[in-house]
Amino acid sequence: MKKRIGVLLSGRGSNFEALAESAAAGRIPNAEIAIVVSNRENAPGIERARARETEALVIPSKGLEREAYDRLVAAALEEKKVDLVCLAGYMRLLSPYFVAAFRNRILNIHPSLLPAFPGLEAQRQALEHGAKFSGCTVHFVDENLDAGPIVLQAVVPIKDDDTPETLSERILREEHRIYTEAVRIVLEGRYRIENRRVMILPEKVSEKR
Ligand code: GAR
Repeated sequence: MKKRIGVLLSGRGSNFEALAESAAAGRIPNAEIAIVVSNRENAPGIERARARETEALVIPSKGLEREAYDRLVAAALEEKKVDLVCLAGYMRLLSPYFVAAFRNRILNIHPSLLPAFPGLEAQRQALEHGAKFSGCTVHFVDENLDAGPIVLQAVVPIKDDDTPETLSERILREEHRIYTEAVRIVLEGRYRIENRRVMILPEKVSEKR
């Protein structure tokens, strides 16, 4: 049976699309996006999902407490029997309930080299700090913001004439690449966690591309 991925997003959806393309092209073997959930009605990612004939659900969060909301989202994902939850520009902190329901089965992509520049506008934070390099991080999600064990990172140089937009674009290309790679590793179970360290195990010869 194919491994089933649930994607949570709030906006554009380019990371969703990269994962969907990778699954369709076999770069993430034997996997499919089973459902996309957005907390925002007008998220372009929802249209992108529907254009790919992927089931896409809007669950508005207005008026709901964090855990009550997360219970709705978790129920939608459980109904679709997802094996892995991928946050892809999902601009909400997850409740302890949600994290426990999918322990070690939630990944996030963040546009900085964590633990530097967590939170919003990470690319602008890196520029304003004067960093010479930034990048992106795929990590397991725990109860804290942008804080769980790191699976993969990619480094991107910061140029003197960068703006938040040009830097974001350069980082985004790496995001799409390492998110695919990280999802592949996690779905294949090709890792071991020791304390905070995620050790990536070698590919079996038969799995080599
Ligand atoms: C991406 O750059 C992602 O790393 C970032 O939001 C953007 C979503 O783009 N996520 C965060 O900042 C999470 N803290 P996308 O909707 O095109 O995938």
